Amino acid sequence: MPDLFAPLRMGDLELANRIVMAPMTRSRADARGVINASARVYYGLRSGAGLLITEGINVGPMSNAFDRAPGLWADEQVEGWKPIVDHVHEKGGRIVAQLWHGGRASARGLLDDQQPLSPSGVNDDLDRLQVWALLANGAYVKIAATPSRAMTLPEIHAVLHEFRTAAVNAARAGFDGVEIHGANGYLIHEFLSPTLNLRDDDYSGSPEGRARLLREIIAAIADVMPLARVGLGLSPFAEYNNVRDPNPGDTYGHVARWLDRIGLAYLHIADTNAWAGAPDYDRLIPLIRANCHGPLIVNGGITPAKAAEIVGHGDADAVAFGRLFLANPDLPERIRVGAPYNTPYSVGAYGGGDTGYLDYPTLDASPQAVSDA
Ligand SMILES: Cc1cc2nc3c(=O)[nH]c(=O)nc-3n(C[C@H](O)[C@H](O)[C@H](O)COP(=O)(O)O)c2cc1C
Repeated sequence: MPDLFAPLRMGDLELANRIVMAPMTRSRADARGVINASARVYYGLRSGAGLLITEGINVGPMSNAFDRAPGLWADEQVEGWKPIVDHVHEKGGRIVAQLWHGGRASARGLLDDQQPLSPSGVNDDLDRLQVWALLANGAYVKIAATPSRAMTLPEIHAVLHEFRTAAVNAARAGFDGVEIHGANGYLIHEFLSPTLNLRDDDYSGSPEGRARLLREIIAAIADVMPLARVGLGLSPFAEYNNVRDPNPGDTYGHVARWLDRIGLAYLHIADTNAWAGAPDYDRLIPLIRANCHGPLIVNGGITPAKAAEIVGHGDADAVAFGRLFLANPDLPERIRVGAPYNTPYSVGAYGGGDTGYLDYPTLDASPQAVSDA
């Protein structure tokens, strides 16, 4: 069976190893959603991953759960990504753009005073939503979500258009592909949830109805990009953003069977509860593997030793690491030689400058290593 350093082909994506960098919002874009210049060094230092999945990238101005997340709808945003993608490629890496619509996890203050969009305007739990903003004094703080409203059909169609345009723009920026963010209680996940999606139209009801938005987003992207370059992130058991699916087996059994027929580059399953110390692997991997046989990346609270086991047993094809990659730019090398790991600092996860962003030492730590990165 393969180890973490065996190459892997997922659709059109050729990975040098099975160590993937999980998507991580770092909230350092400018106010127009143009990615920060330091991201070239940040991603470049991590290009030893078999695949880099970018931080969540907003597909349009109504997607804004985390202030200062970058976008991919305007030309200047596309231009911002080009040097980053080029640099990763120069270093032999692969990088896909995670396409994100935050849905109800937002606030008027982040949306030019408009109401956040959601399937049905369920607003009984706003304190559970993760919405973050940059204050004028530089602090990055959780703010109150404001009530969302149910999307109209034209608004749903506009979101399809946004995902299609973002995929076009990802290709223009040179990305190897895209990952659709269907996880963690954001718009696509909200539509999949029977408690957040109470609509009475074709986008609701049965698992098939609730998965319609996802199917249409994939179809919209397929118009402009081969599906062999498109991945999908899902988190069936997640409680994050209070997404509440009492029967994930039904919802995601259906989704996985459908995905099995269409053949994406990969499915990326985030065990989001494991992030908070409550893993669901034992039910998560069997649910997906029983229904979908394409390339599978798993993520969430996985140690390198566990990752080697998962890949070695063939339970998944690759493992994505979040916080370990945040704190260890040269994570694959550290795994390979058995070096110790840096732990994440208490500052700089979201927002701010290069502290907590570019200053994690590599094994050959020197200022030179960072400036040349
Ligand atoms: C700082 C930070 C930002 C994150 N941002 C995103 C994101 O933009 N998109 C996403 O799908 N998951 C995001 N996540 C979740 C990670 O992709 C991953 O699921 C989580 O960190 C658990 O994996 P780990 O235990 O290896 O860290 C984020 C996690 C962290 C720590």
